[in-house]
Amino acid sequence: MIVAKMELAPQGVYNRDLRNSLRILVTGGAGYIGAHTVRPLLARGHDVIVVDNLSKGYRHNVPVERLYEMDIADTAALASLMRRKQTDAVIHFAAFIAVGESMRVPERYFANNVCGSLSLLTAMVQADVKRMVFSSTAAVYGNPQTTPIPENAPIQAVNAYGESKVMVETLLRWFDAIHGVRSIALRYFNACGADPAGDLGEEHEPETHLIPLVLRALVSGQPVTVFGNDYDTPDGTCVRDYIHVNDLAQAHILALEHLMAGGASDQFNVGTGRGHSVLEVIRTVEEVTGRKVPYVIGARREGDPARLVAASRKLQTKLGWKPRMSDLRRIVEHAWQFAGKQQMA
Ligand code: UFG
Repeated sequence: MIVAKMELAPQGVYNRDLRNSLRILVTGGAGYIGAHTVRPLLARGHDVIVVDNLSKGYRHNVPVERLYEMDIADTAALASLMRRKQTDAVIHFAAFIAVGESMRVPERYFANNVCGSLSLLTAMVQADVKRMVFSSTAAVYGNPQTTPIPENAPIQAVNAYGESKVMVETLLRWFDAIHGVRSIALRYFNACGADPAGDLGEEHEPETHLIPLVLRALVSGQPVTVFGNDYDTPDGTCVRDYIHVNDLAQAHILALEHLMAGGASDQFNVGTGRGHSVLEVIRTVEEVTGRKVPYVIGARREGDPARLVAASRKLQTKLGWKPRMSDLRRIVEHAWQFAGKQQMA
């Protein structure tokens, strides 16, 4: 496909008549949320390449001709790839995500998440790429004083994973002020579910997330542990804001298109504004599958806030985002469908 180089109108609005296909580099695009975002980007006609070192992601998640097996620490290789591909923008997912591990080996999180992002930003400046959508997290808020949590709530991470994302958001501010790199940080709440097509879903090793662990318990018969039932919540178990991965993917596309149309750097929560307890999730799994979930009540997990729910209006009003699939029942149906395909594979 031959496309004219994108033209920026004086107001910074890009001319869709001249160029409606963007060249996008996606780091971590072979991982869970990355792969779910690459798919609709391609469907919208964008030209996508994926940079992934496959330390956590999977080759089977990405069309083979689009995958560049490369580490984000390799600044020179990234800059050269972006120049060669005439990249317009970057969506940056690549990161380690396990909160517990980050409190045992924080150096791994600061090296990969912070130094890796610095390397990527440096490469972007060298290759003159000035737009980034960044995967941030609700963990930047730590133990929030108010829920639902607005974007201007105090930033006070309580674990090394969350702090690594705070540090990248800080880098983004300086790269904007000094180099003009415009970015949107999306602070995810609890990403879950799977593409209804059934061939993409959550595959973490080791798995620490609630919904896949509950589904595994159903299949194996080994009980899942509910981490504490003495929280100050309606049924005593922790409340989280579960967001369908496809709705999360959509937020990236809107953020990217907003930046390409001249939008300023910003930060947005990506959550539904509704919370569900651990026991509600278990009950929903039982309703969807028609089977009893074996579970035991265990001790609290260290560092778990009682309630994490997003104020999600900013994303809805400024970017026109709407959660379309994030009803808990649908999330579980899609995750269960994917789990079934995994067992047959
Ligand atoms: N839970 C259990 N048993 C388990 C696993 C989880 O009871 O075996 C509970 C947790 O205590 C928590 C809820 O289920 O209350 C959700 O836990 P997850 O591990 O699925 O997700 P978290 O809320 O801990 O973390 C998620 C992301 C993090 C991100 C955080 C920000 O995984 O990367 O949301 O809100 F930092």
